[in-house]
Amino acid sequence: MTGVGLRGTSGKAGLLKNVQLFQGLSERQLQQIARLADEMDVPAGKVLARAGETGHEMFVIVEGQASVTTSQRRTLQLGAGDFFGEMSLLDGGPRSATVEAATPMRLLVIGRREFFSLLAEAPLISKGIMRTLSQRLRKADAAFSTCT
Ligand code: CMP
Repeated sequence: MTGVGLRGTSGKAGLLKNVQLFQGLSERQLQQIARLADEMDVPAGKVLARAGETGHEMFVIVEGQASVTTSQRRTLQLGAGDFFGEMSLLDGGPRSATVEAATPMRLLVIGRREFFSLLAEAPLISKGIMRTLSQRLRKADAAFSTCT
């Protein structure tokens, strides 16, 4: 992947402040995430997760748009402040969907070990991830019920 590590810890912490998932965290916690996360720029068309493959990291979108193609062949858009790739880390299963950069993107990448240490350190992050998973499940159920 291209453009890894463009910014120092304090620059990355600045990016994290604008991400909904990290709202309410202390400056110390933001600095900790910034130390654990790699910054990455990718061109449009880059496949960031492929359905069925093993996942090793989660991504937070700083800039740009991603297309998620689910197993039901639904396509969803994710944008700045959204995250993806958490499901494989949480349950150890394969990627549930294919995620591709729809535009040039700037991302923060958090590896499996770092992800779990963040969850242990910051219950607010766990809560935020669970909230988003619940919302995504509701939307998926609503979309499924309109097809049947
Ligand atoms: P993961 O399964 O690790 O890799 C693909 C990612 O796509 C998945 O984690 C989620 O982050 C994301 N994803 C899968 N299904 C949906 C959905 N219905 N809505 C939004 N994001 C999704």
